[in-house]
Amino acid sequence: MRIVLAVVLSYLLGGILFGELIALIFRVDVRKKGSGNPGATNVYRILGPLFGLIVLVGDTLKGVIGCLLGGWLGVPEIAPWCALAVIAGHNWPLQFKFKGGKGIATSFGTIIVLAPATLLVITPLWIITLLLSGYVSLSSIVAALGLPLSCLVLYPGNTDLFFYAVLACLLAISRHRANIQRIMNGTENKILRKKAKED
Ligand code: G3P
Repeated sequence: MRIVLAVVLSYLLGGILFGELIALIFRVDVRKKGSGNPGATNVYRILGPLFGLIVLVGDTLKGVIGCLLGGWLGVPEIAPWCALAVIAGHNWPLQFKFKGGKGIATSFGTIIVLAPATLLVITPLWIITLLLSGYVSLSSIVAALGLPLSCLVLYPGNTDLFFYAVLACLLAISRHRANIQRIMNGTENKILRKKAKED
């Protein structure tokens, strides 16, 4: 019973979309601007760095709390499943008619609790990809791919953790399908732009 409660609460927690809450406060429709995603990157595009950061912190904290819920309810072994539930809640929220985001900040929060050592690998991967490409989406995809691999190396023998990492990676990639399409046809929005050369 406590296991079910922890997973359901994690899912519902994931459905609190900070991007949508900020959008409600400012009466802007983040679904109709930028990439249309109610995540930190798109809020940054539309409302600037402060609100992008607020969404990033809020969505990340959901991931952290989701992973801790099992422990608070006396079933800490359920943490990887709560992690997947909180990410799923963000991606397909009951509260927003199952229309959610891409789950990257929330996944980041779950990694902080479940597999912090992997951040030594995936954070540089994310930053280097961003600096080289300018695409946040591509950086998120590359970091997601690095998660199961770094779990294998840094947490050998932890089957539950590896299973969580593979599923979190697949969820992240599948939620970026439209971004991948836009990157391939050259229409993806770059967050970092190279300065145009002066004549
Ligand atoms: O965290 C989402 C990011 O990887 C892509 O966001 O708005 O460019 O689709 P966006």
